[in-house]
Amino acid sequence: SEEKKIIIAIDGYSSSGKSSMARALASAIGYRYIDSGAMYRAVTLWGMRHGMVENGNVDSEALVSALPGITIDFKPMPDGRQRTLLNGEDVEDEIRRLNVSNNVSQVSVIPEVRHRLVAMQQALGEGKGIVMDGRDIGTTVFPAAEMKVFVDASAETRAQRRFSELVDKGVPATYEEVLANVVHRDHIDETREESPLRKAGDAVSLDNSCMSIEEQNAWLLDLYNKILSDA
Ligand code: DC
Repeated sequence: SEEKKIIIAIDGYSSSGKSSMARALASAIGYRYIDSGAMYRAVTLWGMRHGMVENGNVDSEALVSALPGITIDFKPMPDGRQRTLLNGEDVEDEIRRLNVSNNVSQVSVIPEVRHRLVAMQQALGEGKGIVMDGRDIGTTVFPAAEMKVFVDASAETRAQRRFSELVDKGVPATYEEVLANVVHRDHIDETREESPLRKAGDAVSLDNSCMSIEEQNAWLLDLYNKILSDA
């Protein structure tokens, strides 16, 4: 029997653990996982390489004119992860660096950047059977998504998580600078004009500050099963 395929939108604050939850759910149910933040990071990296983005300053006009020449693709890996390709080049590791994190919110406020990436994201969801995480997936990209989750955790919890990730990868950083970056990005993401970070009215909230990864994953899978059986 053909299972009903749906669209699953997972939104929330940076380093809330939403990406690992979304990826785990996608792999458990055989869906495709898309990290929309990687697309904003890839555009940011392109701008940094071309002198249009530096120290939080963005030459929006130049970057907007360059948009048609920027292509972003995802290469699925056997372990369920994906590698982000920028004009065909694998930039997955580079886009996770702190210098990209420090500029990405400023690039994400540009309406033309958002319109282009939102259109690409909507095209990726055409066949359904997709889990996408980001900031505006349930509000703007897929307002009709059958399942919407909004993930939150305290800024300190999230900074600690990102700091540990960076330490594990051997990326030089201090907890204080990571916390400052998290708080700063929250502020820009929440206050921008164009599709700000906001919980959709019909999204289910999850504060995972006190949950283990296993508990979060089980919670998400339960919700999926409930939504599918009600549909
Ligand atoms: O999920 P992330 O931290 O990798 O996202 C990086 C940045 O991209 C984040 O600071 C805001 C932006 N973003 C966005 O504006 N809209 C999305 N759907 C996803 C990310």
